[in-house]
Amino acid sequence: MADNSETRISISPKYWIIVAVLFGAYSVWFIYTTRTKHQHGMGTLGYVGAEKCKQCHEQQFKDWQETRMARSFEVLRPGVADEAKRIAKIDPKADYTHDSNCLPCHTTGYGLVGGFSTIEQTPLMAGVTCEACHGPGGGYVDTVMSRDKPTFLTKDAVEQGLKYPPTEEVCRVCHNSSSPFVGMNYVFNFKEHVSRGTHHHYPLQYKHDKRG
Ligand code: HEC
Ligand code: HEC
Ligand code: HEC
Ligand code: HEC
Repeated sequence: MADNSETRISISPKYWIIVAVLFGAYSVWFIYTTRTKHQHGMGTLGYVGAEKCKQCHEQQFKDWQETRMARSFEVLRPGVADEAKRIAKIDPKADYTHDSNCLPCHTTGYGLVGGFSTIEQTPLMAGVTCEACHGPGGGYVDTVMSRDKPTFLTKDAVEQGLKYPPTEEVCRVCHNSSSPFVGMNYVFNFKEHVSRGTHHHYPLQYKHDKRG
């Protein structure tokens, strides 16, 4: 009995020093990571997915679902859009769903925080979704853009990553002649494409250019 309590007393100070050191290291790490997150907005700038946008923009979501861009991942599968692939001189029997040459333009946020990585891991980021045109929602959804304060300023949302209105440059990231499906003399007509390929536009209910 006496032996036992002696060993316990002689071991515990060392034990507590180790615990203290580990706790100290953890605190430093914790403070460091949360601070850098706030500084660079890393944790908040990621992609959130179209399902999130659907919660408040159901009409745009429904229209968008019918567009070719919403389904643009499907054309990477073997046996889909055969004729277009033959014309572009690529093998229609091949599976391009894991081909890093195709994924940047046929998915959303490829390789970025919250964006597409593989179809198995991130099925909701397949195709050209809301955030491909409007920017990653992690920064502006709920923080600036919310139902509680529907009169937020567009400018404030834009500061947090919203692209509005999406400009021609946004489309040209993908609509350019490095796509194997368009010729070198491809002309991208912005106005005409906007009317054909996004979703119907519903007039905004609130003013977003000034307070009040
Ligand atoms: C919690 C609700 C909510 C969510 C989620 C949400 N929005 Fe919004 N959004 C709003 C409200 C409210 C407005 C203002 C609507 C109006 O004036 O009619 C708005 C406006 C917009 C506008 C117009 C810009 C402007 O200045 O008003 C765009 C573009 C937009 N949202 C895109 C998105 C996208 C993309 C997502 C997903 C990443 C998203 N929203 C998620 C509530 C939301
Ligand atoms: C630079 C961006 C970009 C890259 C890279 C890219 N695509 Fe595309 N792809 C597009 C765009 C934009 C269109 C739509 C062109 C149009 O009709 O205006 C398209 C169209 C297609 C179509 C035609 C769909 C149809 O319904 O007719 C197929 C199939 C396709 N791409 C497959 C691929 C494959 C496979 C790869 C990789 C080998 C690839 N794309 C790489 C941007 C790209
Ligand atoms: C992330 C890449 C990407 C971005 C950004 C993008 N697109 Fe596309 N777009 C595609 C791909 C890929 C297709 C081909 C889809 C298919 O046919 O399967 C396509 C197809 C289309 C089509 C249908 C093709 C046709 O000729 O009818 C229209 C219209 C279109 N895009 C308009 C736009 C507009 C307007 C913008 C910008 C506001 C834009 N896109 C931004 C990748 C993109
Ligand atoms: C291919 C690009 C593209 C995609 C994908 C896209 N949008 Fe848009 N969005 C636009 C353009 C362009 C406008 C019009 C801006 C203007 O009025 O000049 C717009 C406008 C809006 C507006 C303002 C109100 C309106 O209806 O015009 C909202 C809200 C919006 N988008 C939400 C969404 C949501 C939610 C999704 C996904 C379900 C989505 N958008 C997908 C390009 C896109």
